[in-house]
Amino acid sequence: MRALGHSGIHVTPVAMGCWPIAGMTSIDVNDADSLRTLQAALDAGVNFFDTAFGYGVDGESERLIAQAFQGKREQVVLATKCGMHWDANRQRVVDGSPQRIRQQVDESLRRLATDRVELLYLHMPDPQVPVEESAAALGEILQAGKARAIGVSNFSIAQLEAFHRVCPIAACQPHYNMLQREIEADIIPWCQQQQVAVVSYWPLMKGLLAGKLPRDHVFDPQDGRKKYPMFQGAEWEKNQDFVDALRSIATEADKTVAQVVVNWTCHRPGITSVLCGAKRAYQIEETAASMGWQLSDDQLARIEQAMKERGTPVTRSAV
Ligand SMILES: NC(=O)c1ccc[n+]([C@@H]2O[C@H](COP(=O)([O-])OP(=O)(O)OC[C@H]3O[C@@H](n4cnc5c(N)ncnc54)[C@H](OP(=O)(O)O)[C@@H]3O)[C@@H](O)[C@H]2O)c1
Repeated sequence: MRALGHSGIHVTPVAMGCWPIAGMTSIDVNDADSLRTLQAALDAGVNFFDTAFGYGVDGESERLIAQAFQGKREQVVLATKCGMHWDANRQRVVDGSPQRIRQQVDESLRRLATDRVELLYLHMPDPQVPVEESAAALGEILQAGKARAIGVSNFSIAQLEAFHRVCPIAACQPHYNMLQREIEADIIPWCQQQQVAVVSYWPLMKGLLAGKLPRDHVFDPQDGRKKYPMFQGAEWEKNQDFVDALRSIATEADKTVAQVVVNWTCHRPGITSVLCGAKRAYQIEETAASMGWQLSDDQLARIEQAMKERGTPVTRSAV
């Protein structure tokens, strides 16, 4: 277990990311498998679950979590987010206004069938609303006891500082994986200095780094991944070469590629917990087994070399 900043909350280094079970960009999602996946995460020792008001057009992810953990609320650390939802045309709306934040938090608590969450994030900064205003609204929610701790996601250093001055941040949620390491330069040092937890997303780069998508994989038109440069053309080929390099290390370590990747990620300096998305029980069972062991110095050096050879990928941020 690792401390979530100053909050007094302790979480497992592997958390379950509950975006895939919303079924918006993942294909072949159904409630029965999603409920099994949530239970499998708990059974595999994961205590930390990450969702959001906007994970689903109508709260699908939050409702499934409530259903899966009925009677087990004390066993789980729930994190949700506010400040982003979908309109009637399934277009994303970013709204960090105090009024919208208050309304979404109350709705999330109802969907989650709880009177408070352990962690409440602002999903992303709203360019139309000063960060301080959103921070003040979240500070009031903290005071009201509807959340035990406050976090932010997709923030720059300047935004982190402005928010933190108004409302103390317990956790920061940026994207981070072997191919996207920008936060090592600024966000991670800032969080370490302020003792803010870093809960990172996209450890598997949406499945690419799980090592199971073959080179000739044809993406379903409903699969949201194809739009990312990482999954296209020359970038895709280079990423597949990189996964091949990881595969030889994984074979030697008697682990899977996904386990090597998640283990590497959760042992990086400053990383508190790693959000592993899953829609099937076997997926979270595999990634949860990345906890409790460490890669050798030689394996870590070979991973570093493989990343150097891969070079900087063309990426697109989540926001
Ligand atoms: N704050 C933000 O703005 C933000 C943005 C993005 C994500 N997040 C959070 O971070 C979490 C992680 O991101 P993510 O779910 O998009 O990506 P991810 O964890 O990098 O990848 C998840 C995907 O990888 C595949 N996968 C997972 N385990 C696997 C296994 N053992 N074997 C083979 N494939 C496996 C599955 O895809 P398939 O089964 O479909 O192939 C799964 O949907 C989210 O669920 C969410 O909680 C936050």
